[in-house]
Amino acid sequence: MMNKISEIVKHGLLLIGSLTFSSTMAQNYEAKVDSLMKRMTLQEKIGQTVMYSGSWDQTGPIVGSNNGKYIREGNMGGMLNAFTVRGTHDLQKIAVEETRLGIPLLFGYDVIHGHRTIFPINLGLSASWDLKMVEESARIAAEEASAEGIHWTFAPMVDVSREPRWGRISEGAGEDVYLGSQIAKAYVKGFQGDDLSKPNTILACAKHFAAYGAPQAGRDYHTVNMGEGELRDVYLPPFKAAVEAGVETFMTAFNEINGVPATANKFIFKDILRKEWGFNGFVVTDYTAINELVPHGFAKDEKHAAQLALEAGVDMDMMSGANRLYLEELVKENKIDEGLINQACKRILLAKFKLGLFDDPYRYIDEEREKTTKYKPDFLDKARAIAAASSVMLQNNNHALPISKNTKKIAFIGPLVKDEYDIIGNWAAKGDRNGKAVSVFEGISEYLTSNQILYAKGCEILKEDNSGFKEAINVSKAANEIVLVMGEGHHMSGEAASRTNLKIPGIQPELIKQIRQANPNKKITLVLMNGRPLNLSEEVGLVDAILEVWFPGTMGGAAVADLLFGEVNPSGKLTVTFPRNVGQVPIYYNMKNTGRPIPESNPKEDYKSNYIDVSNSPLFPFGHGLSYTNFNYSDFKLSSDTLTFSGEIEASVTITNTGKMDGHEIVQLYLHDKVGSVTRPVKELKGFQKIFLKQGESKTVRFTITAQDLKFYNNQMLFDVEPGEFEIVIAPSSNFKFQHKFNLVD
Ligand code: GLC
Repeated sequence: MMNKISEIVKHGLLLIGSLTFSSTMAQNYEAKVDSLMKRMTLQEKIGQTVMYSGSWDQTGPIVGSNNGKYIREGNMGGMLNAFTVRGTHDLQKIAVEETRLGIPLLFGYDVIHGHRTIFPINLGLSASWDLKMVEESARIAAEEASAEGIHWTFAPMVDVSREPRWGRISEGAGEDVYLGSQIAKAYVKGFQGDDLSKPNTILACAKHFAAYGAPQAGRDYHTVNMGEGELRDVYLPPFKAAVEAGVETFMTAFNEINGVPATANKFIFKDILRKEWGFNGFVVTDYTAINELVPHGFAKDEKHAAQLALEAGVDMDMMSGANRLYLEELVKENKIDEGLINQACKRILLAKFKLGLFDDPYRYIDEEREKTTKYKPDFLDKARAIAAASSVMLQNNNHALPISKNTKKIAFIGPLVKDEYDIIGNWAAKGDRNGKAVSVFEGISEYLTSNQILYAKGCEILKEDNSGFKEAINVSKAANEIVLVMGEGHHMSGEAASRTNLKIPGIQPELIKQIRQANPNKKITLVLMNGRPLNLSEEVGLVDAILEVWFPGTMGGAAVADLLFGEVNPSGKLTVTFPRNVGQVPIYYNMKNTGRPIPESNPKEDYKSNYIDVSNSPLFPFGHGLSYTNFNYSDFKLSSDTLTFSGEIEASVTITNTGKMDGHEIVQLYLHDKVGSVTRPVKELKGFQKIFLKQGESKTVRFTITAQDLKFYNNQMLFDVEPGEFEIVIAPSSNFKFQHKFNLVD
């Protein structure tokens, strides 16, 4: 079967006439695309800008489509939610053999934190601050996805967010623009590799452009209003970083920005993305986003919406059908310039050439590779290590952790102890939820004998049924130590999953309370699986240790056990602030000082920017994370207290592992621009290094600072620096007091 196909492929390529070419000519794609487009009808060019969904997954409202028909008509350039070698082969065969020009399809899918081997959710992975691990996870995801015929992932999601009510905070890299930008680059490199013509690389997609992470009231798809300065200083840089890393595609955001929906927003797509940043890949809309211009109240009907989106610089229409239905008509009515369609079609064809799909449309079709790639032992090992490195030990009172493997009886209680379903989180592509993932219960069984383990589910995640409490309390009383494994269901974060309440859901908090009451002096550890910062204000006083493991993925339970028993030393640090309660939201580490900050000398002073019921400080700050060992910061040095516009200074500190265990430490550099032509955040992360220190070992960590690091959008909306005084610190988290400064001089 496949041999016959390769014969047809050769024949199919001849169908493109004078375009028969070998991959050695792959460099001058433009000429090939131009030549192909000369042969294409307007309708065929429009067809390339159309994408519908296959039936292998559902990632949005189902709108009826007839894929085979559209492909045969040349009315489809890409397809999402279609994969497996067999599935993509059969669809590609229609495109290549049953259409006039045999232009291959592009298959895209949401490979967000793994395809089959699932890594921690992205918010969790970001807490590893480990760019190598981020890249590795994307590389493995690309290996598994491409082995199933996928050419393109709708990732990385690079939306900065300070909104824990917003379910999709789970998909990003947290609240910081600098860290988010570095992580964006690592994902793009991992997915796209160093040569897109290789069949184990896939196009990446920076999404959702832009500012989707700042919805009013934390409600998904909601309105975004912000000044251009904040947009440019905080929400755009990770996208720019993705462009600098060579990302091939962008995806529009569902939200409006200051009254203009992103999907029809010329300012961000033409002025910024194309003109300022020089992006030359293609832009795809989010799912039915063109049609949504009508309910946004920005387009009078779907035909008008198609016109507005194309004019704004959108190239491919995901799922709305507006391009297929209206673009030809709009050209004939002289309402849009055919050149816009040519430009969109060209960008999409260029991507297909880069992937080598014109050389061989079936190059991602390899049944043997599909069989042997998924869940490779090395992939699973990496997933286990990454899940452990992504976990954050928020609290560890009374040295509750690590737990001795010789403990006589340990009670494991909670709805997520034996979970193999939620543990891989939301947006888990084709991750298995029926037994492949390692539960915490399975993981601890590698360390304990069965008679050391006591278990009770206690309650469900959401159901208000406390009939299991009695058994759970009895089990807890029979144990020497207690481990609670609790949190959210995976569907409680991700898309269309905003919450107004950040508490651990259901009656789990009540169970925690009753277990503490029944065991006033026993060590209790809370292992948390969740897709967003939670309000743990009550729990911090009820349990001794809190281990935030997010949704840790396919090997999550094994990683949790590695951490609980000290096989792995926790090293993760928060990339998003945990508030004391939802009333503080938005709360993030680098807010502005205001004109009435609370004076350290007199926190109770009146008429200051404070609450009367809760402190301004978060429960757990950005950059926070504990270790089983201790790291001492000493001997801060600055090579000069003056920095010139063209010069550089070096800041350094010595870190010593003063504890009894080897471990990683994430060392963070923060600056504060004290005075600006616009007010500046009270602190900004400007560098970090993750180091490994054996017990007793010391290392000097150095950061170089230049004026480039100090740029921001000033009151003229120019990205520039301004002379003046800067404070500087190298610290283990964002919770510090500045003690050093330097001056930037012109
Ligand atoms: C969804 C998401 C987007 C995803 C797309 C395709 O609505 O917003 O992130 O890539 O549709 O599934």
